[in-house]
Amino acid sequence: MLQTALRYSHTLLKEIIQPGDQVIDATMGNGNDTLFLSELVGPEGKVYAFDIQEQALANTKEKLGDAAPQASLFLAGHETIETNVPEDHPIKAAIFNLGYLPNSDKTIITLPETTKQAMDAILKRLTVGGRMILVIYYGHDGGAAEKNEVLNYCGNLPQKSYNVLTYQFINQKNNPPILVCVEKKKGSQE
Ligand SMILES: C[S@@+](CC[C@H](N)C(=O)[O-])C[C@H]1O[C@@H](n2cnc3c(N)ncnc32)[C@H](O)[C@@H]1O
Repeated sequence: MLQTALRYSHTLLKEIIQPGDQVIDATMGNGNDTLFLSELVGPEGKVYAFDIQEQALANTKEKLGDAAPQASLFLAGHETIETNVPEDHPIKAAIFNLGYLPNSDKTIITLPETTKQAMDAILKRLTVGGRMILVIYYGHDGGAAEKNEVLNYCGNLPQKSYNVLTYQFINQKNNPPILVCVEKKKGSQE
């Protein structure tokens, strides 16, 4: 069967991430992606993970246990990637799950402006062949504006520098998530 957007995001990450790589989880939440990335990069790699909620950090720490010293958890928005991840640190992949933390306060959501700042910072650091993936949940208040911002931003990236893919079930009810994958091309100037 076709993979859900969430599962397909992991497939796209797994295809390219090697042990020792440096990667970003831009929306840590309950730590599912942080754990998945930590396993892929292994003890020689590095995962930079961001969230603005104490609860997300606590849940992620519990999920990782002692198993992932390669993960650095920041209680900070992904808009701080610019300052918290040095520009000379090459990033192989980044993942966002946009929206709110499941089973938590639905008014604490990712926002178009800070998501854009994070995408700018990631693309500056992304290696050739690297991928920035966004799984966009947009059924909540404010979600449609962010979806439009991300699709507009990614859809206008220059074709000579990036491959940009969207993946979505278009016959499902209740706003199924949209996956966007941006891949940096060889010879990219940006
Ligand atoms: C859909 S959840 C992420 C789910 C997560 N990937 C997981 O595996 O559980 C979205 C998360 O983004 C967080 N968030 C909201 N604004 C943020 C920001 N500016 N920077 C980083 N995280 C943010 C929310 O607190 C929430 O935990």
